[in-house]
Amino acid sequence: MTIDNRIDLVPEPDELVFRDHIRTPMYDDSALFDAEMERIFKKTWVWVAHASEIPDKGSFKLSQVGRDPVIVVRDRKGEIHVMVNRCRHRAATVCEVKQGKTASFQCPYHGWGYALDGSLRALPYPEQYGDDFDKAQHGLLKLRTDAYAGMIFATFDEQAEPLLDFLGPVTHWIDLFMKQGAGYPVKVLGEHQFSVPMNWKIQLENTTDAYHFPVVHKSFLRSRWTMRPRRSSRSSTRARATSRISATATR
Ligand code: FES
Ligand SMILES: [Fe+2]
Repeated sequence: MTIDNRIDLVPEPDELVFRDHIRTPMYDDSALFDAEMERIFKKTWVWVAHASEIPDKGSFKLSQVGRDPVIVVRDRKGEIHVMVNRCRHRAATVCEVKQGKTASFQCPYHGWGYALDGSLRALPYPEQYGDDFDKAQHGLLKLRTDAYAGMIFATFDEQAEPLLDFLGPVTHWIDLFMKQGAGYPVKVLGEHQFSVPMNWKIQLENTTDAYHFPVVHKSFLRSRWTMRPRRSSRSSTRARATSRISATATR
């Protein structure tokens, strides 16, 4: 069954979302998941890394856009590239090291060598590929890449709106987050990774669940009160947070 056929089987929103509850297929329907990967993760900007994670020329980090593994790398000129981590020969994983520094990438299967910008530079036994083989057509597939406040984003969609338009009012919250360094630039010093057997939307729903903010994110909210005292007194922030409490149940 092709993805297009499966998309025909995707449940409609009014079959899933009701005023007082959301039905379980919202989280476990595989055709819906496939459609989300195609329509959201292949079409919009996805955050892949912070600039501090690839500080030097040749620094790279592995990341993910939807189901596609990508390499985020800073080339010799300092330019950032995001490329699919699949060799253009027979699709082996080109880079298997999670993070580091390199002068180039070499596929471990048959040895094709790629420059930091993804272009194919060298391959063993080039004469065996025939005269019409064009190295320029076999660089790593690249995603459109842009950054805001050190946050590096990438998209598969060349027609996607500009990153700033996509982020819209979210830039305010990114700016706020970047001020958490008390005057020092924010740097990624490590990471916590959690593997949780849940649908990806659950984590996003947690982000818009204001009920837990005053409990779990007390210090973050305090910094907001400090920056914008006139609009955000303690009581009004708490009132706004509690007024948005929503109950989501699945049936
Ligand atoms: S799959 Fe990478 S060189 Fe063959
Ligand atoms: Fe939270």
